[in-house]
Formats: sequence, C-alpha cells, structure tokens
Amino acid sequence: MTILVTGSRGRVARTLIDLLHAQGRPLRAGSSDPGALDPPGGVPAVRCVLDDPGTFGPALAGVSSVFLYAARSPGSATAFAEAAAAAGVRHIVLLSSSAVLEPGAADDVLARGHAAVEAALRAGPVPATFLRPGDFAGNALQWARSIAATDSVRLPYPDAYTVPLHELDLAEVAAAVLTSPEQYAAPAYTLTGPQSLTFREQAEIIGAARGRAVRVETVSPAEWKSASAIPSAYADALLTSWRTHPSPLPTTPPLTPTPRPFTTWATTNAPSFAPTTAATP
Ligand SMILES: NC(=O)c1ccc[n+]([C@@H]2O[C@H](COP(=O)([O-])OP(=O)(O)OC[C@H]3O[C@@H](n4cnc5c(N)ncnc54)[C@H](OP(=O)(O)O)[C@@H]3O)[C@@H](O)[C@H]2O)c1
Repeated sequence: MTILVTGSRGRVARTLIDLLHAQGRPLRAGSSDPGALDPPGGVPAVRCVLDDPGTFGPALAGVSSVFLYAARSPGSATAFAEAAAAAGVRHIVLLSSSAVLEPGAADDVLARGHAAVEAALRAGPVPATFLRPGDFAGNALQWARSIAATDSVRLPYPDAYTVPLHELDLAEVAAAVLTSPEQYAAPAYTLTGPQSLTFREQAEIIGAARGRAVRVETVSPAEWKSASAIPSAYADALLTSWRTHPSPLPTTPPLTPTPRPFTTWATTNAPSFAPTTAATP
C-alpha cells in the first residue's frame, strides 16, 4: 500500500509527505533530484523524472497510489499512467489547476499543461482524481525580498482579487483523497481559500503579521514585467488574469474542516518578510 509522492522538492508535495508520514503511511518520495531531499525518517527517496520514462518502473514498483505533479511534462502523462497500471497502481491524484476551467484553457499557457495531463489520465487505465487549486497563498512569497528590503511591493493590479489557498489545506485534501478514495469519489475538486482578497489586502495582512506596514506601489504592467523573472508568456498570462479579476471571486465549499485564512499563512510566514532595514522614524 505504498504511496509515491512525485515532485517532492515542491512545497505541496513536501507538506503532503510530512502529513502522510505522521499518519504512518508507507511512502516513497519521488523527485528529479532525490539527493536534494530531506524526507522525514525512514521515507525512501527515489529518482522520478516525468520526462524520463526510464525512471518510472523503479519509482512505481510496489506502489498502490500516486500523487502526481506533472504540469511541466504533459507529454509523459500517458507513459506514466501506463507504467503505473503495469505496476499495479490503483489511484492517481493529480495536482492540476483551476486554470483548466477558464475559457480558452487549451491555449492558455497557465492551463494547457494541466489540461493535457488531465486528458491523458482520463483516457488512461488508472482511475484518477484531479485537484484543481486556484492561487496559492504562498505566491505572496514572491514579494518577500522587496517587502523585507523596502517595506513595499510594486504591483501592476493591486486591486485584483484572488482567493488564496493555504498549501497546508491543499496537502490535507491530497492526503485525504489518497487515503480515503471511497469518500472522495468525484473526478475533480476545485479548491480555493476561504476568502477572496485583493493583493492590496494581502499586503496589508502581511504588514500586520510582520509588525510593520507594507506600502503598495502601482506600476504599469510593462514595468512589472520587465522587473520580473517570470518567463514572458507566463507573465502575460498572469497580467491578463489579474486584469480580468477586479471583483471578489467565489469560494468553493471546503473539503477540510477549517480552511486556513490568509492571516494564518501570513503569521506563519512573517519571518520571510522580516525587515532587513531599520525602521524610519
Ligand atoms: N502557485 C499557484 O498559485 C498554483 C495554482 C494552481 C496550480 N498550481 C500548480 O501547482 C504546482 C506546484 O506549484 P508550486 O508553485 O508549489 O511549485 P514548486 O513548489 O516550485 O514545485 C514545483 C516542482 O518543481 C520541481 N523543482 C525543480 N527545482 C526545484 C527547486 N529548486 N525547489 C523546489 N522544487 C523544484 C519539484 O519537483 P522535483 O522534486 O521532482 O524536482 C517541485 O515539485 C504546479 O503544477 C502549478 O502549476 C500552482
């Protein structure tokens, strides 16, 4: 009954490994770089590279369920599903994205990898459940360096709304679906946080959590894009998404008993935003 968690260096996968390990589940941590992992005691690390099907057999031997992170390797999803079936895997839980539900998803750079993997798994031999999260609360970590150094963050659409989802809530849902598939029989779950907030509101909450206010400066989309390390096509897609979300977004019914608000995420992560400069009088 071993569970293989792929993409184990990722935040969601690592959190999931900790949860499953705490439950005493037999586990294997798969990663493109298993040597970089520091899994909890006794959890073996294995090389599992989604665009290298040669790694699938050893990673999947004796595995009954898989948590699959595959967005960057949609072309390998069919081969992975076939290898999983050959190994006796009975259930795959895919980390997908709510972007697949947006109009034009097949052409959207944020959605099309997820949509392709979903389609491959749907056509494949192993039953699969798709987890479709919206924006992660942890995306705010992209602001950490700026906020720590300047008490400010420069945003093109500060009044755009997201519904930040705490990654621990996402990992808890993944653990529940992996370990109690009979209770989570839907083919897909769309997951949001409990409250829609603008980026300005999220920055304010981070300011309260770090004990020093955060200034939000509005910059043009072009300025933001040229200062960002995000690849151009992804940056354009993000800009479009933010521009088209000027109103609060709906929340989905929680699958965890008490979904964590953004204030909880901000309190836990306040050290990442701690000031590196002295307060101005
Ligand atoms: N961020 C969002 O708002 C959002 C919303 C919806 C869906 N999603 C989806 O959720 C998935 C994970 O997103 P994420 O932002 O949480 O990604 P992440 O933590 O950066 O992890 C992504 C994967 O990249 C690999 N990786 C390569 N180099 C790494 C490094 N130096 N450190 C950590 N991981 C590294 C890891 O797999 P290996 O261990 O195998 O190398 C890891 O699982 C993506 O498919 C994304 O599209 C994200």
